[in-house]
Amino acid sequence: MTRVAIVTGGTRGIGEAISLALKELGYTVAANYGGNDAKAQAFTDATGIPSYKWDVGDYEATLAGCAKVAEDLGPVDVVVNNAGITRDGVLQRMSFEDWNEVMRINLGGCFNMAKATFPGMRERGWGRIVNIGSINGQAGQYGQVNYAAAKSGIHGFTKALAQEGAKYGVTVNAIAPGYIDTEMVAAVPAPVLEKIVAKIPVGRLGHAEEIARGVAFLCSEEAGFVTGSTMSINGGQHMY
Ligand code: CAA
Repeated sequence: MTRVAIVTGGTRGIGEAISLALKELGYTVAANYGGNDAKAQAFTDATGIPSYKWDVGDYEATLAGCAKVAEDLGPVDVVVNNAGITRDGVLQRMSFEDWNEVMRINLGGCFNMAKATFPGMRERGWGRIVNIGSINGQAGQYGQVNYAAAKSGIHGFTKALAQEGAKYGVTVNAIAPGYIDTEMVAAVPAPVLEKIVAKIPVGRLGHAEEIARGVAFLCSEEAGFVTGSTMSINGGQHMY
């Protein structure tokens, strides 16, 4: 049976690798994106994976976007909440908007996507939700009170929804990536990033495909007994 999967932020960075990995495994994939039309078009042209534009931080837009995907491709069985932004800065210089945008998109997006798709998964007795958290939600990070709070919230959200989904065959898990070689990490000032990489025992940044492999496992039929868990994929940078 072909499962339908939505990957938010699925046309770039880690999300792009996840969309591709799920497609290779036979899922029918819809890649959501928020802003970069040119990149989304290039992604769709190159992969054949349709891209759908909406802001996951916008509740109504998310309900409408997910309904459109279901109409085009069929009921949604798998959701990967990957969309996320950074607005880094020390608290002293962080505006309310920097705080609010990160909470609205990174954490609010998970709620909005779950509201749109969890009821159907529950009714059909099968579903997979994978939320992309972060090492910085586990360990905190200087200059990221907004991002660390939102990502930490994702880990709590995951454990709570996992309890609600368990008896309906819906698993809810998180992956906590470390520093991955994407545009988001490339935006960290070079001297700061050098110091961070020096603290990664594996000695390098991760690759998006290394996160996608974890997502693929959590979405599989075989992972039905894995729920409420967090898989850390961070090169050994944070262990606990
Ligand atoms: N611990 C303690 N002190 C630190 C520190 C740290 N980790 N990082 C910086 N500082 C100190 C600096 O040494 C400096 O001290 P002095 O003024 O005494 O020299 C002071 O804080 C100010 O540092 P900056 O010059 O860097 O300050 P800034 O205002 O220009 O920039 C910042 C602050 C925006 C937070 C910048 O340091 C930064 O971008 N840091 C990286 C944050 C980060 O890791 N973001 C991750 C993005 S990727 C991601 O989020 C994906 C994921 O999930 C992993």
